[in-house]
Amino acid sequence: MKTRVAVIVGVLALVIAACGGDRTAPTVADGGGGDGGGGGGNAVAIAAGKSLYDGSCVACHAEGGVGIDGLGKPLVGSEFINGLNDADLVEFLTVGRDTSDPANTSGVAMPAKGGNPSLTEADLQNIVAYLRSIN
Ligand code: HEC
Repeated sequence: MKTRVAVIVGVLALVIAACGGDRTAPTVADGGGGDGGGGGGNAVAIAAGKSLYDGSCVACHAEGGVGIDGLGKPLVGSEFINGLNDADLVEFLTVGRDTSDPANTSGVAMPAKGGNPSLTEADLQNIVAYLRSIN
């Protein structure tokens, strides 16, 4: 949405510039990089994701995602993470992995949203961006 507004503003600015003649049209300050797009890898998302991780995941997965024996598995160098796309990873975080799940290897539950139901989908996407950045 932000991107579209930026594009519209950009087009308007061009139109104004093109028709403007010698009129000094007020320059619309270009809102700059509205990089609200899907892919991770943007520093803002990673920073937001790290602070959410440090709030909701670090207790089991440790600082930097190295994992804690008997608690959360390592998230660095994780085949599981690297094998999923961002949307599937958000989906995984939303439901977690109960001990009854055949995929559970540790006998310890990965709680839905890391046990923090207030995390939004956008929060989870930021966390995924952070996880990508450490993998
Ligand atoms: C209460 C402890 C706990 C918390 C909090 C927690 N996890 Fe987990 N997590 C686990 C456990 C235990 C597993 C491994 C379950 C199993 O045996 O398959 C796991 C597994 C995972 C996996 C899958 C790893 C793999 O290789 O299969 C991911 C990804 C993950 N957690 C991410 C997160 C994120 C992100 C958060 C914060 C939003 C979080 N976890 C919070 C305990 C936790």
